[in-house]
This record gives sequence, structure tokens and C-alpha cells, in this order.
Amino acid sequence: MCGIVGYIGKKDAYPILIKGLKRLEYRGYDSAGVALLNNTNQLNVYKTKGKVADLEAYASEKDISGCIGIAHTRWATHGEPNSTNAHPHIGASGNIALIHNGIIENYAVLKQSLQEKGVQFRSNTDTEVLVQLIDFIKTDKKVDLLTAVRTALKIVIGAYAIAVIDKTNPDVVIAARKSSPLVVGIGEEEFFLGSDASPIIEYTDKVIYLDDEDIVVIDRNKKDVEIVDFNNEKIEHEIVTVELNLAQIEKGGFPHFMLKEIFEQPDCLMDCMRGRINVEANNVTLSAIIDNKEHLINARRIIIIACGTSWHAGLIGKQLIENFCQIPVEVEYASEFRYSNPVINNQDVVIAISQSGETADTLAAIELAKKKGAFIYGICNAIGSSIPRATHTGSYIHVGPEIGVASTKAFTGQVTVLTMFALALGKERGSVSEEEYVRIIQELNNIPEKMKELLKIGDDVKQISRIFTYAHNFLYLGRGFNYPVALEGALKLKEISYIHAEGYPAAEMKHGPIALIDAEMPVVVIATKNALYEKVVSNIQEIKARKARVIAIVSEGDVTVKNMADATIELPQTEECLEPLLASIPLQMLAYYIAICKGKDVDQPRNLAKSVTVE
Ligand code: F6R
Repeated sequence: MCGIVGYIGKKDAYPILIKGLKRLEYRGYDSAGVALLNNTNQLNVYKTKGKVADLEAYASEKDISGCIGIAHTRWATHGEPNSTNAHPHIGASGNIALIHNGIIENYAVLKQSLQEKGVQFRSNTDTEVLVQLIDFIKTDKKVDLLTAVRTALKIVIGAYAIAVIDKTNPDVVIAARKSSPLVVGIGEEEFFLGSDASPIIEYTDKVIYLDDEDIVVIDRNKKDVEIVDFNNEKIEHEIVTVELNLAQIEKGGFPHFMLKEIFEQPDCLMDCMRGRINVEANNVTLSAIIDNKEHLINARRIIIIACGTSWHAGLIGKQLIENFCQIPVEVEYASEFRYSNPVINNQDVVIAISQSGETADTLAAIELAKKKGAFIYGICNAIGSSIPRATHTGSYIHVGPEIGVASTKAFTGQVTVLTMFALALGKERGSVSEEEYVRIIQELNNIPEKMKELLKIGDDVKQISRIFTYAHNFLYLGRGFNYPVALEGALKLKEISYIHAEGYPAAEMKHGPIALIDAEMPVVVIATKNALYEKVVSNIQEIKARKARVIAIVSEGDVTVKNMADATIELPQTEECLEPLLASIPLQMLAYYIAICKGKDVDQPRNLAKSVTVE
């Protein structure tokens, strides 16, 4: 939610900042801005409503020189998206510019108090309070920039990653974080800032991940950055090497990141299983389980917390863990869990699932569960992000950066890790039979190949999408392991095509939603040949009797459903518990192609952002 980028060194900052903003645009894209200090120490700030490309067009005729600068791409929280509310914001003195990702919760009180002291505000944002406060303290108390920033951060309540430049301190950028991510890149006589490492890796692979309440002072005349806490005590941080390459964050010939990420899934799942599944030895190993056996084997209960797509993966995880481990599992929305009063103790294990590793609600839920004594296991994608650092242990899904706002490969990666988790823990507990354990491992290993075959259905799905593009409502039905797949399919369609869609357990249809069904309401049914097949076939008959058109996801060779449905997509046969890994592919594609037919921006759908770092 909002992307921030900074540069200080010997090169022109502007092209680096613009490229960085484009890499971070998935975090927010309703307005963008840049602040540059040119070589006469003039502070130039350019801001526009719209995307980074609009900012580029706007700044093209302006003075964009300077080797120090900060830039921001916004996802509005306080104040509508327009050029005034866009960042950077400038303090009353005109000397200081600041960018911010997060929310300042006590901004109203601070704003009033500053206004009473004569400070005039220009925007409706919470962020402006921060820059006005820093500016006010610096001028009023006649202190240096670092002291002003430290003092201000002690006063504000909320979440932030900020970067500040000051034309009276032209060799320095100061940045800080609390509950919002911030990475410092260390180059040769140059330094970078980013909400994640993607704007940095083109220039250096050496980074420092800042922790909460770290303030970093970056001076272009010094070899090293200086990090202090709110009390000005020095903090040492390890410089780490990021394992991220440019190909991973570029489209690689695909028209959209979402399509690239759909097609990457076979390779992603191989990466996810590498070193964990050994088909020769019929074994699955997760080091986090081996290292934390006593906590996990003796878990009285497992609670899965997550949001959105990750929550859907959690629903599949519940069935996998209950099947193979015989441990009761609850799945909670992190946003509800954090404000409930859950009965949790040290015999409970909480699994937190998050692609970005930065979701504010999931982080807060983790903190609550930790306080109550639970053991926390993270399942995340973004390496070094806040959630893996807040958990006791965990497993990365290793699917590479996911940039399309609608999650695809992270979902199948999460389900794959949950499958391995359930099998490995089931084996440790002796609750899964050897025969089943071996059979599922062997088949899990076959999934990437089956997925590759399945991905060839692209043209068929495109055809189907054309037929159904003009529907205003969709229903998605599935049962058992495929019920969460139906929820996920509906979410994908909503997110990128703005068509209303509901996911339901197929048999629940009779208890209400059937009233909606008519010829105008296409119904997507996952009707694979598993234990509940016959029941789903009956549901399809009920739908057809009400004249709705059915798009059915069926098992290879199915004839019964094919004869009933208006369109069918065949899936390769697999184990029932692994069907979500295959069944989600045509639903991702359906959402993608319908959105394309409607001319929507699939990678940057309206009102959404990739990483939800605010409540
Ligand atoms: C949907 C989507 C969101 C996220 C949700 C949680 O396509 O991407 O629903 O799944 O915001 O995000 P993470 O997994 O980063 O915690």
C-alpha cells in the first residue's frame, strides 16, 4: 500500500526514482510524485493524479536534475487521489519534503495543535502532519534534521515508512519505519531506499532490512549508513544479499504480470517443492517442522489466520491438516481475529499465511496470538518481510515476486506448502498411513507436469470468456477441497473484471442463492470425479432446470457433465486433495480473459493494492 523509493549518490536521481516507482506501482497507483534536490540545492517537487506514466509526462518539461531524491506512488487512505494529496508533502518552511507509506492515527489531534500554532496545511492527508511536525520542531527548537525526525516519531502514533530530504542538509536522506516495510540498498558511493528490494536490485544486491523504530541516516559523503533508535542509540544491522533477479520482476514477453504469473506456476511449484520432496526416498521434509517438532506434534489445535486469497488457501489447509494430522483446525480472517477475544494458549499453533508478509491485519493477529502464548508458524512469499520476522518459524513458498495485484501463483504455492506441511506433520504424528503418504507425495510431484499440460487450454478459455463477458453476476460452486477454489475463482473475477461473483459450497445453493439463478446468471461449477461427484451432478441439473448457463470444470474424459454444461474445461486426473492446484488454473484464466475482453487493467485493478499495510 503505497510504494516509496529514494536515491542519494552521484548519478541523476530522477530516472532511478521513476524506474523504481514503476516497479513498486503494484503497491498503489492513484497518484505519484517526486522530490529532487538539484545542484544548487533547490527543492523541486512534482506530483500528479494517476499513474507513474502520468507523472513522467507531467515532469518531462521540468527541471529533473539532481543526485538526491525521493518518490512515491500512492494508494489513498486519507484524502482523495489528486495532485495536492499526492506525496511528497512539503513542510511550511519549504525546506523539507517527505514521503510516507502507512497511516498516522493521531493525525487529527496533531494537525489541530499545529494549526493552533499557525501552521497552514495544504492537503487532506494524514501524512502532511508528519512533515509539518518535523519542520515545526526543527524551526522552533532549532535542532538538526535527525533530532527533529526522532522527536516527531516519538509523538506520532501509527504505521509508517518515511523518507525525508531537506534542502538545508543536501547531502543527507533520513528514513524510518514502524509497521511498514523499508529496505536500504548499499551501492558503490550510492544508496537506495525502497518499500521492497525490487527498485534496488538493478544497482546492488546488498541491502539492509530495517526493523520497527529504526531511523537510518544516509549521508552521501560516508561509506556506511548510520542507524539509530528513537533514543539516538546506535543499532547494528547485517547487510544481506538479496536473491532476486531482474527477470523475476519483468513481464518477460507476456502482456501482463498476471498472465506471466499464471503460466509460471508449474516452475514455481517445482521451486516450492525443491529440496523438500524426495520422490526416490518417498519423503517430504520441512526444516521448520523438524526444528520445532515438540510444538507442532503436540498441538492441541491449529488456527489459520490470513486475509483474501491467503484465507482461501487456509480453508484448503484446514482440510489437508485435519485429514493427515488429525488435529482440529480453525480458519479465521485475521481482521476479525485481531479484534476478537480468542481463547488461545501455549498448546495452540497459529499458522499465518501471507504472500506479501506485510498485511497489517495478519501482523496484528500474530502479535495477539503470540501474547496469548501460541506458537506461530508463517507461510509467506516475500523473503525478509515483516511476517516471517514476527513468527517463531515457518516455510517460504518460494514462488518468486508476485506483481499482478490478483494473486495466482502465491495461492497455488501456499496450497503446496500446506500440503507438504500436513503430510510431514502427519508422518511425525503417525496419523497418516504410509500408503497414503507415499501416494500423495508421488502425485504432488506430478502436479507441475499436469499443470503444464493444463495451461494449454488458454485458447478454449479465451473462447468461453468471450461468450460470458457481458454477464453482470456469476455464481461459483464447488464442494470439499474445491469449495475454497470456488471462493477463489469468484474473488479473481470480482477483482479484475468488476463483475459481481459469489462462491458457494454447491449444496448450499438450495438454501438461498438458487433464488438468483436464471438465464442471465452463469454458474461455474467444479464437478471433478471425486467422492462428491454425483451430488454435484444433481446440483448442475437443478441449475439447468432454471435455465442458467453452466461452465463446468470436469475431470478428463467426463461425459455426463459435458452433456449437461454449456462449456466445459477438462482437468487431468489427480488425487482429490490436490485438485485445487489444478482446478484453480482455469478459473484464474477465465477471470483474466473476461477482464481483457472488458478492457480492464488486470495488473492494476481499481481501488486495490498488492500489499495491504493498513487496516
Ligand atoms: C487477491 C489478493 C488479496 C490478498 C490479501 C492478503 O487476489 O491478492 O486478497 O490475498 O490482501 O494478502 P497477503 O497474502 O499478502 O497477506
